[in-house]
Amino acid sequence: MQALHLWTLLATYAVAVGQKQGQKNQECPKLNAQMPEFQKKTVHIKDPGRVEEIICGLIKGGAAKLQIITDFDMTLSRFSYNGKRCPTCHNIIDNSKLITEECRKKFFSFQLLQLKETYYAIEIDPALTIEEKFPYMVEWYNKSHALLIEQGLQKDKFAEIVRESDVMLKEGYENFFDKLSEHNIPVFIFSAGIGDILEEVIHQAGVYHSNVKVVSNFMDFDEHGILKGFKGELIHVYNKHDGALKNTEYFKQLKDNSNIILLGDSQGDLSMADGVANVEHILKIGYLNDKVDELLEKYMDSYDIVLVKDESLEVANSILQKIL
Ligand code: TMP
Ligand code: MG
Repeated sequence: MQALHLWTLLATYAVAVGQKQGQKNQECPKLNAQMPEFQKKTVHIKDPGRVEEIICGLIKGGAAKLQIITDFDMTLSRFSYNGKRCPTCHNIIDNSKLITEECRKKFFSFQLLQLKETYYAIEIDPALTIEEKFPYMVEWYNKSHALLIEQGLQKDKFAEIVRESDVMLKEGYENFFDKLSEHNIPVFIFSAGIGDILEEVIHQAGVYHSNVKVVSNFMDFDEHGILKGFKGELIHVYNKHDGALKNTEYFKQLKDNSNIILLGDSQGDLSMADGVANVEHILKIGYLNDKVDELLEKYMDSYDIVLVKDESLEVANSILQKIL
């Protein structure tokens, strides 16, 4: 009897210690009660129970199983600040003072008449399917990149171009990147923007840590550092589904990182983790910045968490806080 009592005591103690040591990895929080960030008006969730289950899975897997796959423009970078639109990687160059007047005129008319009014409108048109948008996106990128090449852009001007631009990362970016770096969580930034500009932005922000990998459209320069083309295959808004297939080495190394937090702003970003071999839990967080009324339902059907006109990484940070 006494032995049984001692055994019960020991077992209770062992469970208590185990819980304490692995506390962060065992808790399954209720969204609103234990994660107040989810009470913000910007947060829209179709199935809160499912989101709780996924977050619970992510917490249980801990740092060892986690990886981040994220878009850049309008996801890590801001869509607007004080009511003014913020630039994409492409816009950082379009808007730069260092672009010559002649080029600016061409750019300006191109941007205004074709880019902004035609192609961006197509990118976000709620009435068109991804298949219908696809050829227009290729056309947009081809035209846009041809113009950039025509301008003879100099690589050594990029730091200044970025420094003088209005680009801003989302509120809470330091916390986001620093925490992920501290726990050595792999971050795959998968962008249809311009890799050289993107890298300069995160470098200047002091968050281009060694756990971050950038896959994007990288420029090719001649021996004088003048832009002569783009390397590799074009990445545009709607061909991100084969990213994992084209980066097999990277994802092979991460075969045990079976828990994914995916962040995006476009419908095309939803497929960024397609082809990742071993997925246990995936949480898709989508920023909805434009055409909110028309797109909210669609976004809520496809993203687990939709953040409407939200310029912060608060929700992602609150989840990381629970996992790490
Ligand atoms: P992302 O994949 O990092 O979001 O980057 C792609 C964004 O860049 C997408 O929203 C379209 C935008 N873009 C421009 O702003 N200007 C351009 O000339 C092109 C080709 C794309
Ligand atoms: Mg984007």
